[in-house]
Amino acid sequence: MKELLSIEGLSKSYKSIRAIHNLHLLISEGQSFGILGPNGSGKTTTLSIITGIIRQDSGSFKWFGEEPVSEHRKSIGSLIESPHFYPYLNLEKNLRIICDIKGISYKDIPRVLEMSRLIQRRKSRFSTLSLGMKQRLGLAAAMLGDPQVLVLDEPTNGLDPEGIAEVRELVNNQVGIGKTLILASHILSEVEKICSHVAILKKGELLANGPVRELLAEDEIIEVSCRDNQLLKRKLGSSGLVSEIEEENGVLVLTLKERVTAHEINAFAFSCNLVLHHMLSRKRSLESQFLELVKEES
Ligand SMILES: Nc1ncnc2c1ncn2[C@@H]1O[C@H](COP(=O)(O)OP(=O)(O)OP(=O)(O)O)[C@@H](O)[C@H]1O
Ligand SMILES: [Mg+2]
Repeated sequence: MKELLSIEGLSKSYKSIRAIHNLHLLISEGQSFGILGPNGSGKTTTLSIITGIIRQDSGSFKWFGEEPVSEHRKSIGSLIESPHFYPYLNLEKNLRIICDIKGISYKDIPRVLEMSRLIQRRKSRFSTLSLGMKQRLGLAAAMLGDPQVLVLDEPTNGLDPEGIAEVRELVNNQVGIGKTLILASHILSEVEKICSHVAILKKGELLANGPVRELLAEDEIIEVSCRDNQLLKRKLGSSGLVSEIEEENGVLVLTLKERVTAHEINAFAFSCNLVLHHMLSRKRSLESQFLELVKEES
């Protein structure tokens, strides 16, 4: 896949606060890339640097394999933190101002208003919109000029479940037609639903980076017990079926290797003349894995 954005050793501090530190990332064309991290982990700082809102202290980044230049702006649509619009101007006029800034024609305005389902409100003042509509207008603004890349910072912040679903659909459609998405979020489930790749940030440092499926994969965890748990533990330990065995309140807690099923564990125990009298599936939630990952390094 073609390289779209490469970030090399990016660092930024605000006086004594280290916002990001020696960040390296590679994002390819067509990826939906999530930047996941708790509050204050440096997501907005990272996105602000790569969209040219603020400057890094050190390190560099390249868009489309080139040093950043203002010409790239037309190819990158962004929504960083809350969108800023003029409250007394209507939606169309607000979007015209953005077209002027981006140096693109007004012709694209109806399309983005249609996509964000705000076309009926095009003559309304911005101040009369609901929060969800304001957020959608932010997305509409980011999509003006049909850029190849969307950089979105917490686009579902403050929205109700319906609003979140609408934004997600809009964004997923863009990815579906081949756009590259870079999305910052502190909500694991959001990244999981939208992104194919994820980088996990904590205190400005990269904790993990890779395909969502691999990083956030749910390990199959089961509880078992039989008349001789110690024997079973030894047998399982050398069976190649489990990656981890823990004892908890008289049961064995097994983390199964990929594609191993509970049924196979049962059959294995039986082949060792051990009949399981207890077996319970205990899938670890993604949330707890994410929290663990974030906690690990503290
Ligand atoms: N303008 C600023 N002045 C001083 N410190 C700042 C400024 N902007 C960010 N910081 C600090 O930099 C660190 C990273 O902030 P950043 O906004 O990038 O985090 P974030 O991951 O986007 O957090 P959130 O999930 O809350 O949006 C935080 O400790 C924050 O307090
Ligand atoms: Mg932020």
